[in-house]
Amino acid sequence: MNIGIIGAGNIGATAARLFADAGHRVAISNSRGPESLSSLIEEIGPNASAVSVEEAAGFGEVVLVAIPFGRYETLPAAQLADKVVIDATNYYPG
Ligand SMILES: NC(=O)c1ccc[n+]([C@@H]2O[C@H](COP(=O)([O-])OP(=O)(O)OC[C@H]3O[C@@H](n4cnc5c(N)ncnc54)[C@H](OP(=O)(O)O)[C@@H]3O)[C@@H](O)[C@H]2O)c1
Repeated sequence: MNIGIIGAGNIGATAARLFADAGHRVAISNSRGPESLSSLIEEIGPNASAVSVEEAAGFGEVVLVAIPFGRYETLPAAQLADKVVIDATNYYPG
């Protein structure tokens, strides 16, 4: 399965490793851009790629959102409209 991941911190990076190890293809994004994820991609291996947030939303049949809740308004909502979205966020408005 193709899985898009928005947020590459504790939750996003850990889920990416587990999804890739299970044989899924993951496209991972963060706020700083794909170039900042090169070491993570190298570590995970060929099932992983670094992309923009919009590309992660478009790539996944399933999309994991793992960003600070307070940033939710930056998400590309229209691209997520027909997707299964796993929302890992906790409600900490700040
Ligand atoms: N840690 C836990 O045990 C845990 C458990 C359950 C739920 N959660 C929830 O899961 C979410 C993520 O937690 P975490 O611990 O993984 O956070 P984290 O380690 O701080 O990572 C946050 C990630 O989100 C990215 N990000 C921030 N703003 C973004 C935006 N506007 N667009 C795209 N990416 C953005 C960051 O990218 P940059 O570094 O490039 O800014 C970073 O990769 C939070 O809502 C948290 O409450 C966490």
